[in-house]
Formats: sequence, C-alpha cells, structure tokens
Amino acid sequence: MTRKPEAMHNVKVLQDSFALYGAAAEEFIGCASKSIAGHGRFCVALSGGSTPRGVYSLLAERPAGLQWNNIFVFFGDERHVPPDHPDSNFRMAQEALLSKVPIPAANVFRIRAELDATQAAQEYEDQLRSFFTLKPGESPRFDLIMLGLGDDGHTASLFPGSAALSETSRLVVANWVEKFQQYRITLTYPVINHAAEVMFLVSGAGKAQILKDVLSGEGEKYPAQRVRPKNGVLLWLADQDSARLL
Ligand code: 6PG
Repeated sequence: MTRKPEAMHNVKVLQDSFALYGAAAEEFIGCASKSIAGHGRFCVALSGGSTPRGVYSLLAERPAGLQWNNIFVFFGDERHVPPDHPDSNFRMAQEALLSKVPIPAANVFRIRAELDATQAAQEYEDQLRSFFTLKPGESPRFDLIMLGLGDDGHTASLFPGSAALSETSRLVVANWVEKFQQYRITLTYPVINHAAEVMFLVSGAGKAQILKDVLSGEGEKYPAQRVRPKNGVLLWLADQDSARLL
C-alpha cells in the first residue's frame, strides 16, 4: 500500500481558504516570535500571486502580535512591472499588509522591477549579500520563505523549462517566462533551499491535480518539487478543495 502523499510530506489540510489563511498567519507569527527570540530578527520572503493576500490581510488586523521593528520583509519574486502596476507583488503586499502595520520603511526590501530586469535582479542580489553579510558562495538564510504553487507546478518565478531552474550560484535572476512573454525576477533554489522554513500555500479546486502530482511524484518534474530545504522545515498548507485528490 503506497503511503498517502501527505504522510510523506508535512501537509496540513484546512477546512477552507479562510482556515488556510488563519493557519498561515499563525505560522508566520510563530516563526517571527521564535526567530526574534532566537536571534533578534525575523527575515521573511513574501510570496506573490493571489492566495497570500488573505494571509497578509489577517496579519494586518493583528499588528500588535508582531514586533515589526525586528521584522525584515523581502520578496520571493516579482513581475517585471513598476510597483504601482496591478500585477506587482509588492503592490499587493503593500496594500494588504505593509501599509497597515508599523514596519519601518527601511525594513522592506522591494525588488525594483521597474528597472531593466537583469539590473533589478543584480541589485536585489547585492542587497541580499549586503544585508546578510554574505561571503562569496554563501546563501542567505531566511527564517521563512512563503511560496505558492502554480497549476503548471511553478513556484516563485521558477517556471517549467525556464533558465532559472538550472541556476546554482546566483541568488536572484531575471528569468524569461515564455508563457507570459515576460521577464520575472526571482530568488533561486540556492536561496530557497537554504531557508530555515519554507511554507507553501495552496488553495482552490483548480490546484488539486497539480498538488497531487507534486506531492505524489517521486522525481523533479515540477519546479516546486525541487524545493527541499537542506536544513529547514518544508510545510504545505492546503485547503480541502486543493487537497481533495491527496
Ligand atoms: C507570483 C508567485 C507565484 C504564485 C503562484 C500561485 O508572482 O505569481 O510568486 O509563484 O505563488 O503562481 O499563485 P496564486 O496564489 O495566485 O494561485
């Protein structure tokens, strides 16, 4: 009898999207508290897309639960658009969370995706190297990286067949995404797999097949399957609709 995927992975299935948002917010708060208590700060990379908006809104409703002065916010990826563009991940996070909590502006590290994509990626990588005081060859260790799952198995802006999948030394790259005919700026696997915790958020019936394929597949067919923190926790939070095939 083959083991159910969630038995092999750290998967929590929540009743519905609202319960998913609540569980993700609790995980964020718990991780922040533990990180600040442990080493004085919480460094998190936020996910884009639509699913995390509900989490960010919940976090904005409870600003007192978090020591925002010791929280440092980065982004897992960004579309190649200005920060006020409807597709901007920064804009979504700014509207849902960052503009509603007392986080110092200097604690928010936006990917300047209004620049040339390669320039924006290089600048963000330089910021990571400086903030985390990295030596050559080192990767930053985020306390938490939040990720979503696309229905093609992408995560962050690591899309199937894209060049960034084979990046093993850069921390941030400009990745051409054929299906969108657009550049994206994204963290690479060396960064994602160096995190202390990676939390995937998956919601909706439309993700049921890909979630099953990703969690039950042995190989690395999908980019999301290559997220394997070397020395960290990998947590999947899914609502019942997206987990119905597990
Ligand atoms: C982005 C995200 C992307 C997203 C998935 C899922 O910039 O869009 O980084 O990886 O997490 O596409 O998106 P939804 O949450 O909207 O389904």
